[in-house]
Amino acid sequence: MNINVYKKRRAKLAEQLPNNSVLLLPGADIQYRNADSAHPFRQESSFYYFSGFCEAESLIAIIKRDKELCSIVFVPPKDKLKEIWDGYREGPIGAVENFLFDKAYDNTQIDLMMPDILHGAEQVFYSIGKKQGFDQRVINWTTAASSKDRHSKSINITDATSLIGNIRLIKDDHEIDLIKKACDISAEAHIEAMKSVKDANTEQSIESLYLHEFSKRGARFPAYPPIVAGGENACVLHYVENDQDLNKNDLLLVDAGCEYEMYAADITRTFPVSGKFSDEQLEIYKIVLNAMNAAIDSVKEGNSIMMPQEISEKVITEGLVQVGILQGDPVELHKKGAFKDFYMHKIGHWLGLDVHDAGDYMEGDDFMRFKPGMITTIEPGIYISSSMKVEDKWKGIGIRIEDDILVTKDGNENLTKKVPSDPAEIESLMS
Ligand code: GLY
Ligand code: MN
Ligand code: MN
Repeated sequence: MNINVYKKRRAKLAEQLPNNSVLLLPGADIQYRNADSAHPFRQESSFYYFSGFCEAESLIAIIKRDKELCSIVFVPPKDKLKEIWDGYREGPIGAVENFLFDKAYDNTQIDLMMPDILHGAEQVFYSIGKKQGFDQRVINWTTAASSKDRHSKSINITDATSLIGNIRLIKDDHEIDLIKKACDISAEAHIEAMKSVKDANTEQSIESLYLHEFSKRGARFPAYPPIVAGGENACVLHYVENDQDLNKNDLLLVDAGCEYEMYAADITRTFPVSGKFSDEQLEIYKIVLNAMNAAIDSVKEGNSIMMPQEISEKVITEGLVQVGILQGDPVELHKKGAFKDFYMHKIGHWLGLDVHDAGDYMEGDDFMRFKPGMITTIEPGIYISSSMKVEDKWKGIGIRIEDDILVTKDGNENLTKKVPSDPAEIESLMS
């Protein structure tokens, strides 16, 4: 991508800062899995969004003083030996030339320089509580900055989570293209899984199929640990063990999406291991699918984000009454929240650089309203574990269906519809 895009994003962020303030954006550090085995480096999403820069232990400072803007980045220093072991570093010169920062310094200078950078500022913005150890560092820098001059105003520390998140919430065309690509790759992997599950014996073999299908299409990593849950394992919402045998009479719930060029997809499909839904599985499946379709229809500019939530709750409540799992008046049952024993999570979340992407869900005292460029998941489910007080025939059925929905000027676009959710289409694909 044209590197100017990141510079423009920094300018947009700076426009929203008050005069005499500094915004700090820390990048990610290397994370260790055990001993000295490091996880592959993944840049922190907001840092990436405003820089495109992918080296660990970096820090951006955007300074707005006397209405003038200056963007500074601290980066790992050039180091011949380290570059032989770990790869090329841009260094400060590369950060200015190739990433269009106004100034750049070695990150070894941060603690030394930051009190001077903050001195005279009235406010320092950053995302409070997000990076371990960073809060204390900011406090140390502001204390050191204030103590430079007894008569200067104190520096207020202000949380920038909403400011940053709400810029990221509206996706630009470039981001939408990357998310579409992540969605296409992920949908294709789900299709391959549906085609081959009949020959699989274990959850793990299906997990490996997804990782392989993602990777061979250019997405080396999943956007989150895949959930590959046979039968009742689907009732554990964050099941990631993926280490059980598959039972031919069970459903298989797979929640798996890839990360493509830093952007996430998030898809769930639930399909029968045998290739054919049982009557009970199909009855519950259709309730979830009806909830899903009705909820997606309500994802439109101007509608509250609570609309798909409420619609899905109502459709699921009515469906559970129809099949006899809940007894009573659906309106009353909905008011009482009786569905929550079976559908206990929310309908969705923002999607972007993070699978649970940045951006508020409230605007003042009201829920956010959909605007073009937002991308939300829609993911209703019904989970009936064997400990529930229902007829035995329903026990062990756990179903979720999840698509990724882009809000457009004239409605919405389902970015993941390529992989079927209609049960007849699923059965035909699996046959
Ligand atoms: N895959 C995580 C979620 O659906 O929220
Ligand atoms: Mn999701
Ligand atoms: Mn998901």
